[in-house]
Amino acid sequence: MFNLDNRLLLCAGFIREGAKIADIGTDHAYLPVWLALNGKISSAVASDVRKGPLENAKSNIEKNGVSDKVKAILSDGLDNISEEDADDIIMAGMGGELMIRLTDRTPWLKNSDKHLILQPMTRAESLRKYLCENGFEIMQEKACISLRKAYSVMLCRYDGMKRECSEEFAYIGALGKDNSDEAKRYIYVVNEKLKKKIKGFSEGTQEYKKMLALIEKLTAYYKTEGE
Ligand SMILES: C[S@@+](CC[C@H](N)C(=O)[O-])C[C@H]1O[C@@H](n2cnc3c(N)ncnc32)[C@H](O)[C@@H]1O
Repeated sequence: MFNLDNRLLLCAGFIREGAKIADIGTDHAYLPVWLALNGKISSAVASDVRKGPLENAKSNIEKNGVSDKVKAILSDGLDNISEEDADDIIMAGMGGELMIRLTDRTPWLKNSDKHLILQPMTRAESLRKYLCENGFEIMQEKACISLRKAYSVMLCRYDGMKRECSEEFAYIGALGKDNSDEAKRYIYVVNEKLKKKIKGFSEGTQEYKKMLALIEKLTAYYKTEGE
């Protein structure tokens, strides 16, 4: 048995007991194989758009003796995944913009029985905005540290309700209400990026003032008094 890193472990924690899962962009299929070995899922589709990663997935599935539960398939996003084969859909380790495109072109995800577990590497703010404005509820969001980097994982489902998304929510989701060290670290890293970004804006413009206000708000989440 191998161990999952904290990032994939956090994704695993959001998967429902006995679920049929689809891991999109699976690469080595670590997550579905680990879940199958732990008896947490009833079946898994491990999919990737590239043949190389899919070969990695296949050999890992065979090596761990879980071919009866985990099937590796070539698929661009969810294009070759059938709705009946997936209750919980994971997209981890990909860019937020790609996740938006893959979600948006899969109509069967607009079903409140389906859970989406999303771990974006980039543009998480665009992803949260898309989810809010397109009827997806972010039911839970948690942060973790893996190999000294901060990550966020969102558990979502479609409920058809379109929500307004503030700039603050776009950048940190509900992590502002989470007092954990991991959430604070995630917010700190996001804010450091904003501090770099603001340098490209001219002082005094609306854009600049808005971003400065956001930076100040985010700072309050991880700075304690006296610092
Ligand atoms: C960095 S790996 C992430 C692997 C694993 N999900 C994780 O989080 O550790 C990203 C994987 O996504 C795959 N990928 C990229 N675009 C994709 C798409 N449109 N559909 C399916 N897989 C895709 C890549 O081939 C690659 O194997």
